[in-house]
Amino acid sequence: MTIPGEEIQTQATPDDNVYQENIAFWEKAWSGCKTPYTQLPTLSYIARIPDELNKAKAKRVLDLGCGSGWLSVYLARQGFDVVGVDVSAQAIYLAKTWAEQEDLKITFDVGDVADLKYADGNFDAVVANSIFEHFPLKQALEMSAKVHNLLNDKGIFIGCFDKVGGGPGEYYTLADGTHVYTDKGRKGMLLRRYSPEELEKLCAGFATMTSDEVDAGSLFVVATK
Ligand SMILES: C[S@@+](CC[C@H](N)C(=O)[O-])C[C@H]1O[C@@H](n2cnc3c(N)ncnc32)[C@H](O)[C@@H]1O
Repeated sequence: MTIPGEEIQTQATPDDNVYQENIAFWEKAWSGCKTPYTQLPTLSYIARIPDELNKAKAKRVLDLGCGSGWLSVYLARQGFDVVGVDVSAQAIYLAKTWAEQEDLKITFDVGDVADLKYADGNFDAVVANSIFEHFPLKQALEMSAKVHNLLNDKGIFIGCFDKVGGGPGEYYTLADGTHVYTDKGRKGMLLRRYSPEELEKLCAGFATMTSDEVDAGSLFVVATK
């Protein structure tokens, strides 16, 4: 049995089971939401996202792990051409419903970020809000390499990495520091907090990268090719 907050350092490498159980957690979590929650979150950095996109002259944007679509909707309202992708079919249903209600043309796809079907160079920008936190480091590094490929040669990546994993809960810890939750409410969910060094590694393929602290220690990252 895992004691709340206990850190069991296992030698386990993030295997496919751990990855798939995280996906199952999210599908279950989203299945409890039957109608879209059509409010934007109160995040201090929200307006910085379109500002950075505009500065980079980005138009076509991929919203990675878009959930029920708030960021896609927010950006589409401002004229960006947005594709949102999430592994949860229910989250995508909610996102599509919201976009239809506002008559916004957004493409929403069900998809696993580890296996995205978009062509390389297809996007001017990739945005990722609170999504990399849910992957072991190995997969996160693979994802960031894929993100780099999806961007055109002037592409920009904008990510917010939350300061997670410090609260109560029952979990064990993978060798790379990722928490695997075992309590009833979050069984299977993965959470990892990135160190500045790990963020540098994620963005290693980019020509520039800045990161600054926002909202209770979250890190707002902008990287360009
Ligand atoms: C914390 S939520 C963030 C959602 C949204 N970006 C936001 O800011 O509200 C994490 C999202 O990642 C999605 N997700 C988890 N694993 C995924 C995967 N392998 N591929 C795509 N999406 C995934 C979940 O379904 C969930 O919607």
